[in-house]
Amino acid sequence: MMRGILICTFLLSAVGSVSPSLPINDLMTYAGSQYHIVYNQWKNNTFQYYPTFGYPQNAEWQSSTATTGWTSGFFPGVMWNLYEYNSTFLNMDYALAVTTPTRLFANNTQTHDVGFVIMSGCGNAYRLLKAKSFAEVIIKAAQSLSTRYSPIVHCTRSWNSAHGFLVIIDNMMNLELLYEANVLTNNQTFYNIAFNHANRTMYEHFREDNSTYHVVEYNETDGNVVQKYTAQGYSNNSTWSRGQAWAIHGFTISYRYTRHQPFLDTAIGAANYFLSRLQGEVQDSVPYWDFDSPFNATYQPRDTSAASIIASALLELAQYVPSELSLVYLNASEIILNNLGSAVYLASGNKIYQLPAILVNGTSGPYHNPQSPAYDVAESYGDYYFTQALVRYSKLKQGKKLDLMLNASD
Ligand SMILES: *[C@@H]1O[C@H](CO)[C@@H](O)[C@H](O)[C@H]1NC(C)=O
Ligand SMILES: *[C@@H]1O[C@H](CO)[C@@H](O)[C@H](O)[C@H]1NC(C)=O
Ligand SMILES: *[C@@H]1O[C@H](CO)[C@@H](O)[C@H](O)[C@H]1NC(C)=O
Ligand SMILES: *[C@@H]1O[C@H](CO)[C@@H](O)[C@H](O)[C@H]1NC(C)=O
Ligand SMILES: *[C@@H]1O[C@H](CO)[C@@H](O)[C@H](O)[C@H]1NC(C)=O
Ligand SMILES: *[C@@H]1O[C@H](CO)[C@@H](O)[C@H](O)[C@H]1NC(C)=O
Ligand SMILES: *[C@@H]1O[C@H](CO)[C@@H](O)[C@H](O)[C@H]1NC(C)=O
Ligand SMILES: *[C@@H]1O[C@H](CO)[C@@H](O)[C@H](O)[C@H]1NC(C)=O
Ligand SMILES: *[C@@H]1O[C@H](CO)[C@@H](O)[C@H](O)[C@H]1NC(C)=O
Ligand SMILES: *[C@@H]1O[C@H](CO)[C@@H](O)[C@H](O)[C@H]1NC(C)=O
Ligand SMILES: *[C@@H]1O[C@H](CO)[C@@H](O)[C@H](O)[C@H]1NC(C)=O
Ligand SMILES: *[C@@H]1O[C@H](CO)[C@@H](O)[C@H](O)[C@H]1NC(C)=O
Repeated sequence: MMRGILICTFLLSAVGSVSPSLPINDLMTYAGSQYHIVYNQWKNNTFQYYPTFGYPQNAEWQSSTATTGWTSGFFPGVMWNLYEYNSTFLNMDYALAVTTPTRLFANNTQTHDVGFVIMSGCGNAYRLLKAKSFAEVIIKAAQSLSTRYSPIVHCTRSWNSAHGFLVIIDNMMNLELLYEANVLTNNQTFYNIAFNHANRTMYEHFREDNSTYHVVEYNETDGNVVQKYTAQGYSNNSTWSRGQAWAIHGFTISYRYTRHQPFLDTAIGAANYFLSRLQGEVQDSVPYWDFDSPFNATYQPRDTSAASIIASALLELAQYVPSELSLVYLNASEIILNNLGSAVYLASGNKIYQLPAILVNGTSGPYHNPQSPAYDVAESYGDYYFTQALVRYSKLKQGKKLDLMLNASD
Protein backbone atom coordinates (compact mmCIF):
# COMPACT_ATOMS: atom_id res chain seq x y z
CA MET A 1 0.00 0.00 0.00
CA MET A 2 3.02 2.30 0.14
CA ARG A 3 3.06 4.97 -2.50
CA GLY A 4 5.76 7.40 -3.39
CA ILE A 5 5.41 10.83 -1.87
CA LEU A 6 5.24 13.57 -4.42
CA ILE A 7 7.35 16.27 -2.90
CA CYS A 8 5.91 19.69 -3.28
CA THR A 9 8.32 22.54 -3.47
CA PHE A 10 6.07 25.13 -4.97
CA LEU A 11 3.87 27.21 -2.73
CA LEU A 12 1.08 29.10 -4.37
CA SER A 13 1.27 32.37 -2.56
CA ALA A 14 4.87 32.20 -1.43
CA VAL A 15 6.34 32.20 -4.92
CA GLY A 16 5.05 34.33 -7.72
CA SER A 17 5.98 33.31 -11.20
CA VAL A 18 7.70 29.96 -10.88
CA SER A 19 6.18 27.44 -13.24
CA PRO A 20 3.64 25.37 -11.37
CA SER A 21 4.41 21.87 -10.20
CA LEU A 22 0.80 20.96 -10.83
CA PRO A 23 0.24 20.33 -14.57
CA ILE A 24 -3.07 22.08 -14.39
CA ASN A 25 -3.53 22.75 -18.09
CA ASP A 26 -2.81 19.13 -18.99
CA LEU A 27 -5.26 17.95 -16.35
CA MET A 28 -8.01 20.29 -17.51
CA THR A 29 -7.37 19.32 -21.13
CA TYR A 30 -7.75 15.69 -20.16
CA ALA A 31 -10.88 16.47 -18.15
CA GLY A 32 -12.28 18.32 -21.14
CA SER A 33 -11.68 15.47 -23.54
CA GLN A 34 -13.25 12.93 -21.16
CA TYR A 35 -16.35 15.02 -20.56
CA HIS A 36 -16.79 15.75 -24.24
CA ILE A 37 -17.23 11.99 -24.59
CA VAL A 38 -19.69 11.96 -21.69
CA TYR A 39 -21.54 14.82 -23.32
CA ASN A 40 -21.82 12.95 -26.62
CA GLN A 41 -23.13 9.89 -24.81
CA TRP A 42 -25.64 12.10 -23.03
CA LYS A 43 -26.73 13.64 -26.31
CA ASN A 44 -27.08 10.24 -27.93
CA ASN A 45 -29.19 8.91 -25.14
CA THR A 46 -32.93 9.03 -25.36
CA PHE A 47 -33.42 9.02 -21.64
CA GLN A 48 -31.54 11.71 -19.75
CA TYR A 49 -28.24 10.18 -18.80
CA TYR A 50 -26.56 11.67 -15.74
CA PRO A 51 -23.44 9.78 -14.71
CA THR A 52 -23.32 8.77 -11.05
CA PHE A 53 -20.51 6.30 -10.50
CA GLY A 54 -18.86 3.92 -12.89
CA TYR A 55 -17.30 0.54 -12.64
CA PRO A 56 -13.98 -0.15 -14.32
CA GLN A 57 -14.87 -3.74 -15.06
CA ASN A 58 -17.69 -3.05 -17.48
CA ALA A 59 -16.63 0.44 -18.49
CA GLU A 60 -20.00 1.90 -17.72
CA TRP A 61 -21.25 4.82 -15.75
CA GLN A 62 -24.24 4.05 -13.59
CA SER A 63 -26.68 6.75 -14.37
CA SER A 64 -29.65 8.59 -13.03
CA THR A 65 -32.09 10.93 -14.68
CA ALA A 66 -31.87 14.68 -14.12
CA THR A 67 -34.48 14.61 -11.38
CA THR A 68 -33.64 11.49 -9.41
CA GLY A 69 -30.86 10.55 -7.01
CA TRP A 70 -28.46 13.08 -5.54
CA THR A 71 -25.79 13.35 -8.21
CA SER A 72 -27.37 14.79 -11.35
CA GLY A 73 -25.89 18.25 -10.71
CA PHE A 74 -22.30 17.05 -10.85
CA PHE A 75 -22.09 16.36 -14.59
CA PRO A 76 -23.39 19.89 -15.32
CA GLY A 77 -21.02 21.09 -12.59
CA VAL A 78 -17.98 19.56 -14.28
CA MET A 79 -19.07 21.23 -17.52
CA TRP A 80 -19.27 24.63 -15.77
CA ASN A 81 -15.85 24.09 -14.22
CA LEU A 82 -14.41 23.42 -17.67
CA TYR A 83 -16.13 26.48 -19.07
CA GLU A 84 -14.92 28.65 -16.20
CA TYR A 85 -11.35 27.43 -16.53
CA ASN A 86 -11.14 28.42 -20.15
CA SER A 87 -14.21 29.12 -22.22
CA THR A 88 -12.50 27.62 -25.26
CA PHE A 89 -12.38 24.28 -23.40
CA LEU A 90 -16.10 23.88 -23.46
CA ASN A 91 -18.89 25.31 -25.50
CA MET A 92 -21.21 27.03 -23.04
CA ASP A 93 -24.23 25.64 -24.88
CA TYR A 94 -23.16 22.15 -23.81
CA ALA A 95 -23.12 23.20 -20.16
CA LEU A 96 -26.48 24.90 -20.53
CA ALA A 97 -27.96 21.90 -22.30
CA VAL A 98 -27.07 19.47 -19.52
CA THR A 99 -28.04 21.93 -16.78
CA THR A 100 -31.51 22.77 -18.05
CA PRO A 101 -33.19 19.43 -17.25
CA THR A 102 -31.93 19.61 -13.65
CA ARG A 103 -33.89 22.83 -13.01
CA LEU A 104 -36.96 20.73 -12.23
CA PHE A 105 -35.20 19.30 -9.19
CA ALA A 106 -35.81 22.63 -7.45
CA ASN A 107 -39.38 21.58 -6.69
CA ASN A 108 -38.26 18.45 -4.88
CA THR A 109 -39.13 18.65 -1.19
CA GLN A 110 -38.46 14.96 -0.57
CA THR A 111 -34.69 15.18 -0.12
CA HIS A 112 -32.03 17.51 1.27
CA ASP A 113 -30.00 16.69 -1.84
CA VAL A 114 -31.81 19.50 -3.64
CA GLY A 115 -28.84 21.59 -2.45
CA PHE A 116 -26.21 19.38 -4.09
CA VAL A 117 -28.14 19.07 -7.33
CA ILE A 118 -29.16 22.68 -7.77
CA MET A 119 -25.97 24.39 -6.61
CA SER A 120 -23.62 22.23 -8.69
CA GLY A 121 -25.56 22.83 -11.90
CA CYS A 122 -27.89 25.82 -11.82
CA GLY A 123 -25.91 27.47 -9.01
CA ASN A 124 -22.74 27.50 -11.07
CA ALA A 125 -24.71 28.68 -14.10
CA TYR A 126 -25.94 31.60 -12.02
CA ARG A 127 -22.51 32.32 -10.57
CA LEU A 128 -20.95 32.50 -14.02
CA LEU A 129 -23.77 33.96 -16.13
CA LYS A 130 -25.72 35.97 -13.54
CA ALA A 131 -28.90 35.04 -15.40
CA LYS A 132 -32.03 35.83 -13.43
CA SER A 133 -33.75 32.61 -14.46
CA PHE A 134 -31.12 30.63 -12.54
CA ALA A 135 -31.52 32.88 -9.49
CA GLU A 136 -35.18 31.94 -9.52
CA VAL A 137 -34.29 28.25 -9.51
CA ILE A 138 -32.05 28.78 -6.48
CA ILE A 139 -34.83 30.56 -4.60
CA LYS A 140 -37.37 27.87 -5.48
CA ALA A 141 -34.96 25.15 -4.36
CA ALA A 142 -34.29 26.98 -1.09
CA GLN A 143 -38.02 27.09 -0.45
CA SER A 144 -38.13 23.34 -1.02
CA LEU A 145 -35.25 22.68 1.38
CA SER A 146 -36.79 25.02 3.98
CA THR A 147 -39.84 22.76 4.22
CA ARG A 148 -37.51 20.15 5.73
CA TYR A 149 -36.54 22.37 8.66
CA SER A 150 -37.59 21.58 12.20
CA PRO A 151 -37.57 24.54 14.59
CA ILE A 152 -37.41 22.01 17.43
CA VAL A 153 -34.35 20.16 16.15
CA HIS A 154 -32.88 23.33 14.58
CA CYS A 155 -31.88 21.34 11.50
CA THR A 156 -33.15 20.42 8.07
CA ARG A 157 -34.00 16.75 7.73
CA SER A 158 -31.56 14.78 5.59
CA TRP A 159 -33.13 11.41 4.87
CA ASN A 160 -36.80 10.69 5.20
CA SER A 161 -37.26 7.96 7.77
CA ALA A 162 -40.08 6.63 9.85
CA HIS A 163 -37.53 6.23 12.63
CA GLY A 164 -36.62 9.65 13.85
CA PHE A 165 -35.24 12.85 12.37
CA LEU A 166 -31.98 11.98 10.62
CA VAL A 167 -29.23 14.47 9.88
CA ILE A 168 -26.09 13.40 8.05
CA ILE A 169 -22.85 15.36 7.94
CA ASP A 170 -23.18 15.64 4.12
CA ASN A 171 -26.09 18.00 4.72
CA MET A 172 -23.63 20.80 5.56
CA MET A 173 -23.07 21.03 1.80
CA ASN A 174 -26.72 21.88 1.15
CA LEU A 175 -26.66 25.06 3.22
CA GLU A 176 -25.00 27.13 0.49
CA LEU A 177 -28.34 27.03 -1.30
CA LEU A 178 -30.08 28.65 1.67
CA TYR A 179 -27.43 31.27 2.33
CA GLU A 180 -27.42 32.24 -1.33
CA ALA A 181 -31.22 32.46 -1.43
CA ASN A 182 -30.98 34.87 1.51
CA VAL A 183 -28.55 37.02 -0.47
CA LEU A 184 -30.88 36.95 -3.48
CA THR A 185 -34.13 37.66 -1.64
CA ASN A 186 -33.14 39.27 1.65
CA ASN A 187 -35.41 36.71 3.30
CA GLN A 188 -33.74 36.15 6.67
CA THR A 189 -35.56 32.84 7.18
CA PHE A 190 -33.22 31.13 4.71
CA TYR A 191 -30.18 32.45 6.56
CA ASN A 192 -31.53 31.47 9.97
CA ILE A 193 -32.29 27.92 8.89
CA ALA A 194 -28.80 27.47 7.47
CA PHE A 195 -27.14 29.10 10.46
CA ASN A 196 -29.07 27.02 12.98
CA HIS A 197 -28.40 23.81 11.08
CA ALA A 198 -24.66 24.51 11.05
CA ASN A 199 -24.71 25.51 14.71
CA ARG A 200 -26.48 22.36 15.87
CA THR A 201 -24.26 20.21 13.67
CA MET A 202 -21.19 21.86 15.17
CA TYR A 203 -22.30 20.69 18.61
CA GLU A 204 -23.63 17.24 17.77
CA HIS A 205 -21.69 15.74 14.86
CA PHE A 206 -18.18 16.30 16.21
CA ARG A 207 -16.24 14.16 18.61
CA GLU A 208 -13.62 15.49 21.04
CA ASP A 209 -10.84 14.95 18.51
CA ASN A 210 -12.72 16.87 15.76
CA SER A 211 -13.62 13.77 13.81
CA THR A 212 -17.26 13.41 12.81
CA TYR A 213 -20.16 11.05 13.14
CA HIS A 214 -21.96 10.37 9.89
CA VAL A 215 -25.55 10.25 11.19
CA VAL A 216 -27.21 11.94 14.15
CA GLU A 217 -30.77 10.88 14.88
CA TYR A 218 -32.84 13.48 16.70
CA ASN A 219 -36.20 13.15 18.37
CA GLU A 220 -38.49 15.40 16.40
CA THR A 221 -40.80 15.90 19.38
CA ASP A 222 -38.30 17.21 21.89
CA GLY A 223 -35.22 17.87 19.74
CA ASN A 224 -32.98 15.59 21.80
CA VAL A 225 -30.32 13.37 20.28
CA VAL A 226 -31.45 9.74 20.12
CA GLN A 227 -28.33 8.11 18.69
CA LYS A 228 -25.21 8.73 16.64
CA TYR A 229 -24.01 6.19 14.15
CA THR A 230 -22.81 5.54 10.62
CA ALA A 231 -24.59 4.61 7.41
CA GLN A 232 -21.73 4.80 4.94
CA GLY A 233 -18.64 4.50 7.09
CA TYR A 234 -16.87 1.46 8.52
CA SER A 235 -18.41 1.58 12.00
CA ASN A 236 -20.43 3.81 14.29
CA ASN A 237 -17.33 5.23 15.91
CA SER A 238 -15.07 5.40 12.89
CA THR A 239 -14.60 8.39 10.61
CA TRP A 240 -15.83 8.07 7.07
CA SER A 241 -13.31 10.13 5.13
CA ARG A 242 -15.80 11.63 2.69
CA GLY A 243 -18.02 12.68 5.59
CA GLN A 244 -15.09 14.47 7.20
CA ALA A 245 -14.41 16.18 3.86
CA TRP A 246 -18.05 17.32 3.65
CA ALA A 247 -17.67 18.80 7.13
CA ILE A 248 -14.59 20.81 6.12
CA HIS A 249 -16.11 22.05 2.89
CA GLY A 250 -19.50 22.74 4.48
CA PHE A 251 -18.23 24.70 7.47
CA THR A 252 -15.93 26.70 5.21
CA ILE A 253 -18.98 27.70 3.15
CA SER A 254 -20.94 28.53 6.32
CA TYR A 255 -18.10 30.80 7.39
CA ARG A 256 -18.06 32.45 3.94
CA TYR A 257 -21.65 33.59 4.40
CA THR A 258 -21.81 34.23 8.15
CA ARG A 259 -18.28 35.20 9.23
CA HIS A 260 -19.20 33.39 12.44
CA GLN A 261 -15.83 32.56 14.01
CA PRO A 262 -16.92 29.23 15.57
CA PHE A 263 -17.75 27.93 12.08
CA LEU A 264 -14.25 28.82 10.92
CA ASP A 265 -12.73 27.15 13.96
CA THR A 266 -14.83 24.07 13.25
CA ALA A 267 -13.63 23.93 9.64
CA ILE A 268 -10.04 24.28 10.84
CA GLY A 269 -10.46 21.57 13.47
CA ALA A 270 -12.03 19.22 10.92
CA ALA A 271 -9.32 19.97 8.33
CA ASN A 272 -6.51 19.43 10.80
CA TYR A 273 -8.03 16.12 11.83
CA PHE A 274 -8.27 15.00 8.20
CA LEU A 275 -4.70 16.05 7.42
CA SER A 276 -3.39 14.35 10.57
CA ARG A 277 -4.91 11.09 9.36
CA LEU A 278 -3.07 11.35 6.05
CA GLN A 279 0.26 10.77 7.75
CA GLY A 280 1.70 7.32 8.08
CA GLU A 281 0.03 4.72 5.94
CA VAL A 282 -1.57 7.16 3.55
CA GLN A 283 1.58 8.61 2.17
CA ASP A 284 0.09 9.85 -1.05
CA SER A 285 -2.59 11.97 0.62
CA VAL A 286 -5.51 10.07 -0.83
CA PRO A 287 -7.35 8.57 2.13
CA TYR A 288 -8.90 5.19 2.49
CA TRP A 289 -12.70 5.30 2.34
CA ASP A 290 -12.76 5.31 6.15
CA PHE A 291 -9.87 6.48 8.33
CA ASP A 292 -10.46 3.60 10.73
CA SER A 293 -11.03 0.77 8.28
CA PRO A 294 -8.67 -2.16 8.83
CA PHE A 295 -6.52 -1.30 5.85
CA ASN A 296 -3.72 -3.51 7.06
CA ALA A 297 -5.86 -6.61 7.47
CA THR A 298 -7.98 -6.79 4.32
CA TYR A 299 -8.14 -4.89 1.05
CA GLN A 300 -9.49 -1.42 1.68
CA PRO A 301 -10.18 0.99 -1.13
CA ARG A 302 -9.25 4.64 -1.31
CA ASP A 303 -11.75 7.40 -1.83
CA THR A 304 -10.50 9.90 -4.39
CA SER A 305 -13.70 11.89 -3.97
CA ALA A 306 -12.88 12.59 -0.31
CA ALA A 307 -9.47 13.84 -1.45
CA SER A 308 -11.05 16.03 -4.15
CA ILE A 309 -13.54 17.55 -1.73
CA ILE A 310 -10.93 18.51 0.84
CA ALA A 311 -8.47 19.74 -1.82
CA SER A 312 -11.06 22.21 -3.06
CA ALA A 313 -12.19 23.20 0.44
CA LEU A 314 -8.64 23.91 1.61
CA LEU A 315 -8.11 26.43 -1.18
CA GLU A 316 -11.05 28.44 0.13
CA LEU A 317 -10.27 27.85 3.81
CA ALA A 318 -6.75 29.16 3.15
CA GLN A 319 -8.31 32.54 2.33
CA TYR A 320 -9.74 32.91 5.83
CA VAL A 321 -6.93 31.79 8.15
CA PRO A 322 -3.66 33.42 9.30
CA SER A 323 -0.88 33.30 6.72
CA GLU A 324 1.12 30.51 8.36
CA LEU A 325 -1.86 28.15 8.41
CA SER A 326 -2.85 29.36 4.98
CA LEU A 327 0.45 28.10 3.60
CA VAL A 328 -0.07 24.73 5.26
CA TYR A 329 -3.49 24.37 3.62
CA LEU A 330 -2.33 25.52 0.18
CA ASN A 331 0.57 23.12 0.40
CA ALA A 332 -1.66 20.24 1.46
CA SER A 333 -4.16 20.97 -1.30
CA GLU A 334 -1.44 21.11 -3.91
CA ILE A 335 0.04 17.80 -2.78
CA ILE A 336 -3.35 16.10 -2.81
CA LEU A 337 -4.13 17.45 -6.28
CA ASN A 338 -0.74 16.36 -7.55
CA ASN A 339 -1.35 12.84 -6.32
CA LEU A 340 -4.88 12.71 -7.69
CA GLY A 341 -3.58 13.99 -11.00
CA SER A 342 -1.02 11.19 -11.28
CA ALA A 343 -1.21 7.94 -13.23
CA VAL A 344 -2.23 6.15 -10.01
CA TYR A 345 -5.65 7.79 -9.90
CA LEU A 346 -6.38 9.22 -13.34
CA ALA A 347 -8.63 7.09 -15.51
CA SER A 348 -5.97 7.30 -18.24
CA GLY A 349 -3.41 5.67 -15.95
CA ASN A 350 -5.56 2.68 -15.13
CA LYS A 351 -5.12 -0.16 -17.59
CA ILE A 352 -8.48 -1.78 -16.99
CA TYR A 353 -10.39 1.45 -17.04
CA GLN A 354 -12.04 2.65 -20.23
CA LEU A 355 -14.71 4.87 -18.79
CA PRO A 356 -14.85 8.52 -19.84
CA ALA A 357 -14.09 9.80 -16.34
CA ILE A 358 -11.30 11.87 -14.84
CA LEU A 359 -10.52 10.08 -11.59
CA VAL A 360 -10.82 6.46 -10.56
CA ASN A 361 -10.58 4.80 -7.13
CA GLY A 362 -13.52 6.47 -5.52
CA THR A 363 -15.78 4.68 -3.09
CA SER A 364 -19.50 4.92 -3.53
CA GLY A 365 -21.96 3.56 -1.05
CA PRO A 366 -21.07 1.51 1.98
CA TYR A 367 -18.13 -0.62 1.01
CA HIS A 368 -18.68 -2.99 3.90
CA ASN A 369 -22.16 -3.71 2.67
CA PRO A 370 -21.84 -6.63 0.25
CA GLN A 371 -24.97 -5.46 -1.52
CA SER A 372 -23.25 -2.36 -2.83
CA PRO A 373 -19.61 -3.05 -3.33
CA ALA A 374 -19.03 0.13 -5.29
CA TYR A 375 -15.35 0.72 -4.70
CA ASP A 376 -12.43 1.60 -6.96
CA VAL A 377 -14.91 3.37 -9.19
CA ALA A 378 -15.17 6.73 -10.89
CA GLU A 379 -17.63 9.17 -9.38
CA SER A 380 -19.20 12.23 -10.89
CA TYR A 381 -18.78 14.04 -7.57
CA GLY A 382 -15.09 13.18 -7.42
CA ASP A 383 -14.67 14.65 -10.90
CA TYR A 384 -16.72 17.72 -9.94
CA TYR A 385 -14.75 18.68 -6.84
CA PHE A 386 -11.45 17.80 -8.53
CA THR A 387 -12.14 20.18 -11.42
CA GLN A 388 -13.50 22.79 -8.99
CA ALA A 389 -10.22 22.57 -7.08
CA LEU A 390 -8.19 22.91 -10.28
CA VAL A 391 -10.15 26.01 -11.30
CA ARG A 392 -9.60 27.51 -7.85
CA TYR A 393 -5.92 26.61 -7.90
CA SER A 394 -5.53 28.17 -11.31
CA LYS A 395 -7.13 31.42 -10.10
CA LEU A 396 -4.82 31.65 -7.11
CA LYS A 397 -1.84 30.80 -9.28
CA GLN A 398 -2.65 33.79 -11.46
CA GLY A 399 -2.90 36.01 -8.39
CA LYS A 400 -6.68 36.30 -8.76
CA LYS A 401 -9.35 35.97 -6.13
CA LEU A 402 -11.52 32.87 -6.01
CA ASP A 403 -14.82 33.39 -7.77
CA LEU A 404 -17.06 32.08 -5.00
CA MET A 405 -20.82 31.84 -4.97
CA LEU A 406 -21.25 34.78 -2.60
CA ASN A 407 -19.57 37.09 -5.09
CA ALA A 408 -22.11 36.20 -7.77
CA SER A 409 -24.60 38.75 -6.51
CA ASP A 410 -22.06 41.58 -6.22
C1 LIG B 1 -23.35 8.76 -30.78
O1 LIG B 1 -24.14 8.21 -31.84
C2 LIG B 1 -23.46 8.20 -33.08
C3 LIG B 1 -24.46 7.77 -34.17
O2 LIG B 1 -25.11 6.60 -33.77
C4 LIG B 1 -22.27 7.26 -32.99
O3 LIG B 1 -21.56 7.26 -34.20
C5 LIG B 1 -21.35 7.76 -31.88
O4 LIG B 1 -20.29 6.85 -31.69
C6 LIG B 1 -22.10 7.92 -30.58
N1 LIG B 1 -21.21 8.57 -29.63
C7 LIG B 1 -21.07 8.13 -28.40
C8 LIG B 1 -20.09 8.90 -27.56
O5 LIG B 1 -21.68 7.20 -27.96
C1 LIG C 1 -7.65 29.00 -23.46
O1 LIG C 1 -7.30 27.93 -24.31
C2 LIG C 1 -6.86 28.38 -25.58
C3 LIG C 1 -6.72 27.16 -26.47
O2 LIG C 1 -6.01 26.14 -25.77
C4 LIG C 1 -5.60 29.19 -25.43
O3 LIG C 1 -5.18 29.66 -26.69
C5 LIG C 1 -5.88 30.37 -24.52
O4 LIG C 1 -4.70 31.05 -24.25
C6 LIG C 1 -6.46 29.90 -23.21
N1 LIG C 1 -6.89 31.06 -22.44
C7 LIG C 1 -6.53 31.26 -21.19
C8 LIG C 1 -7.07 32.49 -20.53
O5 LIG C 1 -5.82 30.48 -20.59
C1 LIG D 1 -42.61 23.85 -9.56
O1 LIG D 1 -43.37 24.67 -8.67
C2 LIG D 1 -43.91 25.83 -9.25
C3 LIG D 1 -44.68 26.60 -8.20
O2 LIG D 1 -43.89 26.86 -7.10
C4 LIG D 1 -44.84 25.46 -10.38
O3 LIG D 1 -45.24 26.64 -11.03
C5 LIG D 1 -44.11 24.55 -11.37
O4 LIG D 1 -45.03 24.09 -12.31
C6 LIG D 1 -43.51 23.37 -10.67
N1 LIG D 1 -42.75 22.58 -11.61
C7 LIG D 1 -42.84 21.28 -11.68
C8 LIG D 1 -42.03 20.63 -12.72
O5 LIG D 1 -43.52 20.63 -10.92
C1 LIG E 1 -39.18 33.57 3.55
O1 LIG E 1 -38.93 32.20 3.23
C2 LIG E 1 -39.70 31.29 4.01
C3 LIG E 1 -39.25 29.89 3.64
O2 LIG E 1 -39.50 29.62 2.30
C4 LIG E 1 -41.20 31.53 3.75
O3 LIG E 1 -41.95 30.67 4.56
C5 LIG E 1 -41.54 32.97 4.04
O4 LIG E 1 -42.88 33.21 3.66
C6 LIG E 1 -40.63 33.92 3.29
N1 LIG E 1 -40.87 35.28 3.75
C7 LIG E 1 -41.17 36.24 2.91
C8 LIG E 1 -41.36 37.58 3.53
O5 LIG E 1 -41.26 36.07 1.71
C1 LIG F 1 -25.87 27.46 18.98
O1 LIG F 1 -26.26 26.26 19.63
C2 LIG F 1 -26.02 26.29 21.01
C3 LIG F 1 -26.24 24.90 21.57
O2 LIG F 1 -27.45 24.34 21.10
C4 LIG F 1 -26.92 27.33 21.63
O3 LIG F 1 -26.69 27.41 23.01
C5 LIG F 1 -26.60 28.68 20.99
O4 LIG F 1 -27.52 29.65 21.45
C6 LIG F 1 -26.67 28.63 19.49
N1 LIG F 1 -26.11 29.85 18.93
C7 LIG F 1 -26.83 30.70 18.24
C8 LIG F 1 -26.12 31.94 17.83
O5 LIG F 1 -27.98 30.49 17.93
C1 LIG G 1 -39.25 11.54 21.82
O1 LIG G 1 -39.58 12.51 22.75
C2 LIG G 1 -40.87 12.33 23.28
C3 LIG G 1 -41.16 13.53 24.18
O2 LIG G 1 -40.10 13.75 25.05
C4 LIG G 1 -40.94 11.01 24.03
O3 LIG G 1 -42.25 10.78 24.51
C5 LIG G 1 -40.52 9.89 23.09
O4 LIG G 1 -40.44 8.67 23.79
C6 LIG G 1 -39.17 10.18 22.46
N1 LIG G 1 -38.86 9.16 21.47
C7 LIG G 1 -37.68 8.56 21.41
C8 LIG G 1 -37.51 7.56 20.30
O5 LIG G 1 -36.76 8.81 22.18
C1 LIG H 1 -19.23 4.99 20.22
O1 LIG H 1 -20.10 6.06 19.92
C2 LIG H 1 -21.20 6.13 20.81
C3 LIG H 1 -22.10 7.19 20.28
O2 LIG H 1 -22.75 6.67 19.17
C4 LIG H 1 -20.68 6.43 22.20
O3 LIG H 1 -21.77 6.50 23.08
C5 LIG H 1 -19.74 5.33 22.62
O4 LIG H 1 -19.14 5.67 23.85
C6 LIG H 1 -18.65 5.13 21.59
N1 LIG H 1 -17.89 3.95 21.93
C7 LIG H 1 -16.57 3.94 21.97
C8 LIG H 1 -15.94 2.65 22.27
O5 LIG H 1 -15.90 4.94 21.74
C1 LIG I 1 -24.41 1.20 15.44
O1 LIG I 1 -25.40 2.08 15.86
C2 LIG I 1 -26.71 1.64 15.50
C3 LIG I 1 -27.65 2.74 15.87
O2 LIG I 1 -27.47 3.08 17.22
C4 LIG I 1 -27.02 0.33 16.20
O3 LIG I 1 -28.28 -0.13 15.81
C5 LIG I 1 -25.96 -0.67 15.82
O4 LIG I 1 -26.15 -1.84 16.58
C6 LIG I 1 -24.57 -0.13 16.11
N1 LIG I 1 -23.58 -1.06 15.60
C7 LIG I 1 -22.67 -1.60 16.36
C8 LIG I 1 -21.76 -2.58 15.71
O5 LIG I 1 -22.54 -1.31 17.55
C1 LIG J 1 -10.61 20.78 17.64
O1 LIG J 1 -10.86 21.99 16.94
C2 LIG J 1 -10.93 23.11 17.80
C3 LIG J 1 -11.38 24.29 16.94
O2 LIG J 1 -10.46 24.51 15.86
C4 LIG J 1 -9.59 23.33 18.46
O3 LIG J 1 -9.66 24.43 19.34
C5 LIG J 1 -9.22 22.08 19.24
O4 LIG J 1 -7.93 22.23 19.78
C6 LIG J 1 -9.27 20.86 18.35
N1 LIG J 1 -9.11 19.66 19.14
C7 LIG J 1 -8.15 18.78 18.94
C8 LIG J 1 -8.13 17.61 19.84
O5 LIG J 1 -7.31 18.92 18.05
C1 LIG K 1 -3.57 -3.43 11.97
O1 LIG K 1 -3.35 -2.21 12.69
C2 LIG K 1 -3.94 -2.22 13.97
C3 LIG K 1 -3.82 -0.81 14.54
O2 LIG K 1 -2.54 -0.29 14.31
C4 LIG K 1 -3.26 -3.29 14.82
O3 LIG K 1 -3.84 -3.32 16.11
C5 LIG K 1 -3.45 -4.64 14.15
O4 LIG K 1 -2.73 -5.63 14.85
C6 LIG K 1 -2.94 -4.60 12.71
N1 LIG K 1 -3.32 -5.85 12.05
C7 LIG K 1 -2.51 -6.48 11.20
C8 LIG K 1 -3.08 -7.72 10.57
O5 LIG K 1 -1.38 -6.11 10.95
C1 LIG L 1 3.98 20.53 2.76
O1 LIG L 1 3.51 19.21 3.01
C2 LIG L 1 4.54 18.24 3.14
C3 LIG L 1 3.89 16.87 3.23
O2 LIG L 1 2.97 16.83 4.29
C4 LIG L 1 5.37 18.56 4.34
O3 LIG L 1 6.46 17.66 4.41
C5 LIG L 1 5.91 19.99 4.22
O4 LIG L 1 6.56 20.33 5.42
C6 LIG L 1 4.76 20.95 3.99
N1 LIG L 1 5.24 22.30 3.80
C7 LIG L 1 4.62 23.34 4.38
C8 LIG L 1 5.21 24.68 4.12
O5 LIG L 1 3.64 23.21 5.09
C1 LIG M 1 -7.40 1.59 -7.89
O1 LIG M 1 -8.35 0.68 -8.41
C2 LIG M 1 -7.78 -0.39 -9.12
C3 LIG M 1 -8.94 -1.22 -9.66
O2 LIG M 1 -9.54 -0.54 -10.65
C4 LIG M 1 -6.90 -1.21 -8.21
O3 LIG M 1 -6.32 -2.24 -8.93
C5 LIG M 1 -5.83 -0.29 -7.62
O4 LIG M 1 -5.05 -1.01 -6.68
C6 LIG M 1 -6.46 0.89 -6.93
N1 LIG M 1 -5.42 1.83 -6.51
C7 LIG M 1 -5.21 2.14 -5.23
C8 LIG M 1 -4.13 3.10 -4.95
O5 LIG M 1 -5.87 1.68 -4.31
